[in-house]
Amino acid sequence: MRDHAKPLLRALAGEAVWPPPIWLMRQAGRYLPEYRALRMQAGSFLDLCFNSELAAEVTLQPVRRFGLDAAILFADILLVPFGLGQQLWFADGEGPRLEPITTAADLTRLEPDGLLPRIAPVLETVKRVKAVLPREVGLIGFAGAPWTVATYMIAGRGTPGQAPAREAARTDPAFFAALNEILVEATTCYLLAQIEAGVEVIQLFDTWAGSVDPDLFEALVITPTRKIVEAVHKAHPRVPIIGFPRNIGQAARLFAESTGVTALGVAQSDAEWALRELPPHLVIQGGLDPEALVAGGALLEDHARRLLSMARGRPYIFNLGHGVVPKTPPENVMRLVDIVRNQGAQN
Ligand code: CP3
Repeated sequence: MRDHAKPLLRALAGEAVWPPPIWLMRQAGRYLPEYRALRMQAGSFLDLCFNSELAAEVTLQPVRRFGLDAAILFADILLVPFGLGQQLWFADGEGPRLEPITTAADLTRLEPDGLLPRIAPVLETVKRVKAVLPREVGLIGFAGAPWTVATYMIAGRGTPGQAPAREAARTDPAFFAALNEILVEATTCYLLAQIEAGVEVIQLFDTWAGSVDPDLFEALVITPTRKIVEAVHKAHPRVPIIGFPRNIGQAARLFAESTGVTALGVAQSDAEWALRELPPHLVIQGGLDPEALVAGGALLEDHARRLLSMARGRPYIFNLGHGVVPKTPPENVMRLVDIVRNQGAQN
């Protein structure tokens, strides 16, 4: 099939494509001057997400500049709470802010029916990108996993260790379960709409999976992910889903075995163990320390080469262990792409 000429899709189909395809989490963003210019033109980050023309352009910027193997839709995991009617704003220089949701009464104010109308411009962005994307480049859609999204909805912001959500899950399990159920449904609906608009791959970001206490891991991380994967695959069995449960250590084995994800994204702290210990047919993505990309030079080269040599022979997608950070020099990204393409071709 023509689509399978795309290295990203071949790797996700289980082929040990070499050199491996490469894209970077948070590849569109503040480290790029051309992003900062459009962000300024749009006004705010949310205005940029909801301006399909500018969001499509921002999606394409890193693909054009670096020749990456995938574009990731420009949006945010917090557009789901926003779509459900929760107040969301991004104060300049700070992180996201939401009106916290902490009680069963707050949940009754959420409007699941408002989700698709509110996020409609994001689906328009998908169509615009799809129409002009180079044919060898894959298009990735995404959502936050319910646990990670819930941590922001409950605390109203990012907090150290996401303590407010951990506490809510313990002290008010009925409230937490009800929120979880709303998020499983809304996330599924949002992802199906992205697929119908044209994305070819889904990534589920569970940035805060590593903060869940072990006895709640199954209920808060595994089960909601499995439900979403099952529902998406029921409608679209062939769309690959990359799970990214960040910093979960050796629980990644259980995650990979029991959620039904097509591929496992790994943080820098989990990468070497995962590449060594997890079955060779499992598709793995990521693992490079974002700080190595900031540092560049010999450090970047050493880290990248080490990952390449460990991943050789299995289906692997080159990526970071978390997102590109704003202080990253863009030329280091170009250097990394060269290392992966050239070094990968040699070893
Ligand atoms: O990867 C991409 O380039 C696509 C777009 C994308 C953004 N956010 C744009 C964004 C993606 C995939 C995300 C995911 C996301 N958003 C996650 C999961 C991945 C991760 O990094 O852990 C999380 C936890 C969020 C929530 C969020 N959005 C936070 C905490 C912040 C502020 C701090 C930060 O990391 O930048 C955002 C804002 C945000 N999302 C920006 C961008 C480009 C910066 C906005 C700006 O221009 O000021």
